[in-house]
Amino acid sequence: MEAALITRAPFGVAPDGLAVELFTLRRPGGIEARICTYGGIIVSLKTPDRNGRLDDVVLGCDDLAGYLALSPYLGALVGRYANRIAQAAFTVDGVKYNLAANNGPNALHGGRKGFDKAVWQAAPVGTGARLVLSYLSKDGEEGYPGNLSVEAAYSLTEDHGLRLDFTATTDKTTVVNLTQHAYFNLAGGGDVLGHEVQIDADRFTPVDATLIPTGELRPVAGTPFDFRQPMAIGARIEQDDEQLKRGQGYDHNFVLNHPTGRLDVVARVREPGTGRVLEVLTTEPGVQLYTGNFLNGAVKGKDGRVYGRRSGFCLEAQHFPDSPNQPAFPPVTLKPGEVFRSTIVFRFPQHG
Ligand code: GLA
Repeated sequence: MEAALITRAPFGVAPDGLAVELFTLRRPGGIEARICTYGGIIVSLKTPDRNGRLDDVVLGCDDLAGYLALSPYLGALVGRYANRIAQAAFTVDGVKYNLAANNGPNALHGGRKGFDKAVWQAAPVGTGARLVLSYLSKDGEEGYPGNLSVEAAYSLTEDHGLRLDFTATTDKTTVVNLTQHAYFNLAGGGDVLGHEVQIDADRFTPVDATLIPTGELRPVAGTPFDFRQPMAIGARIEQDDEQLKRGQGYDHNFVLNHPTGRLDVVARVREPGTGRVLEVLTTEPGVQLYTGNFLNGAVKGKDGRVYGRRSGFCLEAQHFPDSPNQPAFPPVTLKPGEVFRSTIVFRFPQHG
């Protein structure tokens, strides 16, 4: 296969006056991804259906103004701590750190101005390229300790994947949990209830009324959270189940069966109408299945599209929500001298 191509173009100016750029990564005969430096957002991701027809399979906006106006993390990189931290506080080395409570009493997705709203710096690109974005999150930014130097490298793989490699280092002990918040719709429109999801997880982390994990690792067997065999998102989503009610649908972290640190396929989604398949690979111990329960048509979507409730789903590879306050969960502390590493791949296997 021919090498990947990468091109760049201006994409407007962020509120802090920084110029934003849009990069296009393309492999002839393969998928095409457009990524902007504001939030490291995947603006579009075009993949072929069973007849070779390219469609954009991610929700997003036509221009930067759309993302600035209102975006529930559409396609964005999320940090310094993805998902929730209970009561917007945690303690590291005996010091309590307070964060902004931006989701009821809790902190969500890095705070008021998380990594999704930062303008990332793009390294010069060559051919065969990786798009390397970097961001320095200053000591005390959004309440988190330590200067955190983050790198997010996007590349296209030979097997039709968009790969994202994160690395991060700190100069003070801190907590880190990074993810990619793309909303997918493999049909290119409509709701996602017919998409069939499979997740390699025997357990999930049930939540309290504010969507903070209770600490229990609950078996999925016999619950609407059993995705060990492919199941349509809509098959059980309206069941009379306390957990589904709390999330207003699926908004839960799954405890992946694979060993943390190894890059494995952990989830697979198939859209029967188009035959499109998405495989999610990660090194992370968890994945949040979020079924767009809070989408309400407010976002001005691409080409005048209205993104209604459940018109997209997310599979956010991550460490478990609220880990800084849950000693039994896999650890999320990063110390000076250590290197945080995490990989996520969205792969679109092609039909024979
Ligand atoms: C995550 C959360 C959801 C919601 C979305 C963004 O997936 O778990 O509750 O906040 O992000 O709207």
